[in-house]
Amino acid sequence: MPKWLEDAVFYEIYPQSFYDANGDGIGDFEGIIQKLDYIRDLGCNALWINPCFDSPFKDAGYDVRDYRKIAPRYGTNDDAQRLFAEAHKRGIHVLFDLVPGHTSEEHPWFLESKKAAPPQEFANRYIWTDSWFFWSNEGLKFVAGEAERNGVYIINFFKCQPALNYGFLKPSASWQLPPEHPGCIATREALKDIIRFWLDLGCDGFRVDMADSLVKLDDEQKSGTSAIWRNIRTMLDADYPEAALVAEWSNPPLAIPAGFHMDFLLDHTGGGYHSLFREYQVNAQGVEDKSFFKKDGGGDICKFLDQYLPWYKTLKDRGYIAMITGNHDTPRLGFSLSQRELAVAYGFLFTMPGTPFLYYGDEIGMRYLAFLPSKEGGYTRTGSRTPMQWTNGKNRGFSSGDTKQLYLPVDTSADAPTVEAQEKDPASLLNTVKALLRLRHAEEDLRSRPNLEILYAEKGKLPLVYRRGAFVLGLNPGGSTVTIRLPGGAEGGGKLVFAIGDCSLEGSTTGGLCTMGPQSFGLWRRPA
Ligand code: NOJ
Repeated sequence: MPKWLEDAVFYEIYPQSFYDANGDGIGDFEGIIQKLDYIRDLGCNALWINPCFDSPFKDAGYDVRDYRKIAPRYGTNDDAQRLFAEAHKRGIHVLFDLVPGHTSEEHPWFLESKKAAPPQEFANRYIWTDSWFFWSNEGLKFVAGEAERNGVYIINFFKCQPALNYGFLKPSASWQLPPEHPGCIATREALKDIIRFWLDLGCDGFRVDMADSLVKLDDEQKSGTSAIWRNIRTMLDADYPEAALVAEWSNPPLAIPAGFHMDFLLDHTGGGYHSLFREYQVNAQGVEDKSFFKKDGGGDICKFLDQYLPWYKTLKDRGYIAMITGNHDTPRLGFSLSQRELAVAYGFLFTMPGTPFLYYGDEIGMRYLAFLPSKEGGYTRTGSRTPMQWTNGKNRGFSSGDTKQLYLPVDTSADAPTVEAQEKDPASLLNTVKALLRLRHAEEDLRSRPNLEILYAEKGKLPLVYRRGAFVLGLNPGGSTVTIRLPGGAEGGGKLVFAIGDCSLEGSTTGGLCTMGPQSFGLWRRPA
């Protein structure tokens, strides 16, 4: 585990929408470089940059045409190296987004592989059936009717994303190759070359897209895909021990033994993480929100803890669980949570073990812009990808270009949050995030390492109280004051170091008495 991850706080940048330095309406690398001081001052010391390689952008860059070339709209490979150097000067590590499972249908490998008589080198780079007449009973998605080659090809996500061939765990037809077939090994080695290419230029690692998707018809343990990642891990441990590997797998108990340093706690289909902030339904009456962090949403913290704690306990010394505020695929938390609700939620997110990820704009509570036409394959995700709101001025300071030319419209509502306004307000969400992250970096006990103990969490009840080393933390997202007695007087007392709203923790021989006012968060240093 690279040492720097112990104190890493990530900032996710969707490069299209972060900062447009050349006025063409779309964000760029120069824009990111110009905002590095802002990111450092916010308290983030690592970046995850969404795909930035040459691409037709049918899925926002998750359809790579050339893994070795920065997309011209963002800059050049020299700009990438400048970004690495400038970030490193400020103590910031930079992760690129690696898409190992599929390429663009315009990638030269694919163009070769779709020929009637593909050259040997690329004949097995993608998964082609041996006849055009095909139907999958096993749920494989495929495209037919697009090539000279007499077969159909398997895709991973959109039609434009043919799946690279890492083999089938248990081939059941002649066109299904085993992972140890030379063609599949060649795919894996080509991926390793790409990894080395960017690490040699100064990149610090990768967030790995759909990391669990490599070997097809894998078993439940994903043993075929895991073997590939372990092979890559061995190479990284030997040659790049400081490089970080972050999985988009959403199953930390599988991703971490496979060789990732961390995996996201994310579920698009409900579950523990989801129940914290996105347990809502949109209906004719508006938004019905039962999330834990919604004021009086009636949520249940045990839904989260029941999933999280067993994973946390098994993985403790092996890797981290990454908690995100959101990402380019999720609705922004600002869709349904108010600034105060967000503040309490961030109190939790930024003081948990593991690695926090802050999605650009979530530090000011940017909203989700509903009903935008789909942009670059975004569909409903488009509303979470709008330009960063820097100032109160033109285009919210995102771009000096023509408003009509912007990648996506900016939030022009009169009360749209901006960095400019929040910097001036000591009680703003932005300043709350800064204060929380300052504390996290200053106190070893509040960083990534596993030292979590739950002191009070009851089904359907408030508050939540937990301990991390020398600190006791409490939170109450509800609208009424709650008082509870903590087991053991030793938990009581201590110095209140940080608070949102009113809260107190008194010592007593029969147990600490914790009183949490409406929508509050408190952090106490335990008596020495
Ligand atoms: C997951 C990415 O986060 C998403 O944005 C993308 O569309 C799919 N993988 C396909 O690469």
